[in-house]
Amino acid sequence: MALVPTDTRILFCGDLVGAAGRRALLGALPGLRERHDPTFVVVNAENVAGGFGITPDIARELFGAGVDAITLGNHAYRRREIYAFLDEEPRIVRPANYLHGQPGRGHTVIERDGVRLGVINLSGNVFMSAGRSAFAEADALVARLTGTVDHLIVDMHAEATSEKVAMGWHLDGRVTAVIGTHTHVPTADARVLPGGTAYITDAGMTGSRAGVLGIQRALAIEALVTQMPVRLLPGEEDPWLAGVLVSASEPMRADAIEQVLVSVSAPAP
Ligand SMILES: [Fe+2]
Ligand SMILES: [Fe+2]
Repeated sequence: MALVPTDTRILFCGDLVGAAGRRALLGALPGLRERHDPTFVVVNAENVAGGFGITPDIARELFGAGVDAITLGNHAYRRREIYAFLDEEPRIVRPANYLHGQPGRGHTVIERDGVRLGVINLSGNVFMSAGRSAFAEADALVARLTGTVDHLIVDMHAEATSEKVAMGWHLDGRVTAVIGTHTHVPTADARVLPGGTAYITDAGMTGSRAGVLGIQRALAIEALVTQMPVRLLPGEEDPWLAGVLVSASEPMRADAIEQVLVSVSAPAP
């Protein structure tokens, strides 16, 4: 373990949706770096490729822009071309409690400025398809990584708020942060739990705020009104970035968590 990492800041951005989400992140990152000086930037990018999944080219672009690690979720396998990449590239993770035979890995450790950050991705089991228990997997991975990293964050990608809240309490005092993703709507419950774990039920999404969870609203409404299949496409209008900034001065504990909600007025190319 490194010497006590003083003042580590982790910027985590919620689900990037489509090109607008990718551009919002790339557009906002320089200003966010200036303002918050994050040690690490971690993003959930399960919706970045046309709203569903991710491709190797987009992942490389995000890494090239300074993203340290990418987490995913239920859309991890939408694009076939990502399968081999998930096996080869250690900085991108899919839920750890998927089956062992599914492509990719569920956790990674990245290092910057002498600080080692473990990143674990989990999928909820309530209303979602994951082959194994999120809680059992969390326990196993936390036990395995504790002592080998300075900080540990968990992206709990889940539908049910109850399951995310429960995971926050379950891991309180054992990890630096539990950050919920998947529902794309930022919640107002960011706080450091009594044991020292930063927590939020959902970080929100990075993409078009003029749509429905990042999808063009006319298409989302049509699908709901007609009850017929509609090809859903990500929106472009009114991009914003939603995430959290976790600050820490002691290993495996957070001092603070604050929401980062930025309207990004960068023009579309
Ligand atoms: Fe998502
Ligand atoms: Fe999701």
